[in-house]
Amino acid sequence: MASNRWLRYQLPRLGFARRAVLRFMPGEDSESALRAGKDFQKDGISVVFTRLGENITRLEEADEVAAHYLGLIERIHAEGLDGEISVKLTQLGLDLDVDRTAAHIERLADRAASFGKTVWIDMEGSPYTEKTIALYERAKARHPNTGLCLQAYLHRTAADIQRLLPLEPALRLVKGAYAEPAALAYQTRREVDANFALLSTAMLDAACAGRRIRIALGTHDVNLIDQITRHAAAIGLPKTAFEVQMLYGIRADEQRRLARQGFVVRDLIGYGTAWYAWYMRRLAERPANVLFALRQLLP
Ligand code: FDA
Repeated sequence: MASNRWLRYQLPRLGFARRAVLRFMPGEDSESALRAGKDFQKDGISVVFTRLGENITRLEEADEVAAHYLGLIERIHAEGLDGEISVKLTQLGLDLDVDRTAAHIERLADRAASFGKTVWIDMEGSPYTEKTIALYERAKARHPNTGLCLQAYLHRTAADIQRLLPLEPALRLVKGAYAEPAALAYQTRREVDANFALLSTAMLDAACAGRRIRIALGTHDVNLIDQITRHAAAIGLPKTAFEVQMLYGIRADEQRRLARQGFVVRDLIGYGTAWYAWYMRRLAERPANVLFALRQLLP
């Protein structure tokens, strides 16, 4: 459904869908995202903002997205927020012009660096994995304040972590949100969870061995977080050796609990009008969300 063009156009026009999506984002404009960011900060939770959208088809759209993010970085700073941004490369033109996309990332990283902030790059479906990593390598060589998302469901990720370690990377590990074939990705929850634990352990072991790496666990799976925390403790690392990143609207109680317990927690706040494909991925992660959405049909 995430890639269905007809639905992509129709669904966002329906009132019940617009009401349902508000469970996962504070609003469509950046001001509501910034307001939500301030509320999180009161609870000791930092934030990362993303303007939803992907696979743009005209380069001018990418220019507009980049200009938007440049302005947002200024606003984050002006509001005194511990906030970063996370971008999708296909929203910055990766399908159309790789060099221009790289230039956008560099401009964003430049501006973010002047405020001591990081620019994260999301990971999209497998046709983009190699291109995204290659562009990250290019950006990271010149901009230390860039980070990359890697997906634990992909077989290749263990090797990608080793490949990126010399760059002193910032890595956000997630389970992965796209439908991928068995040749490329683990298919069962058990396998994905096991690989997530293994990859997190590898990153922590690298940190313990003195490698410079910023580790973010992008998951709501508190059992996994607990397991990884125990590994960190066993090798002598504090729980601040990594940070936990979760999505707005998901396990908010756990986000606050972890922050209270001294974990570094960052909430990813999505906003914008182009929420359709992103929202479909949130529904797919948890079928109960479909019921929640349908309930919005009731008066
Ligand atoms: P899992 O799916 O096992 O969920 C664990 C528990 O969390 C569930 O039992 C449930 O309680 C809760 N939960 C999880 N998803 C939920 C939902 N949609 N609604 C309600 N409850 C839910 N993916 C990607 O491919 N590229 C990317 O760049 C990113 N970026 C990213 C950033 C951050 C900060 C996060 C947290 C996640 C991503 N993802 C992502 C999404 C990620 O790949 C994955 O699909 C989701 O995080 C869901 O997996 P969990 O790790 O939460 O575990």
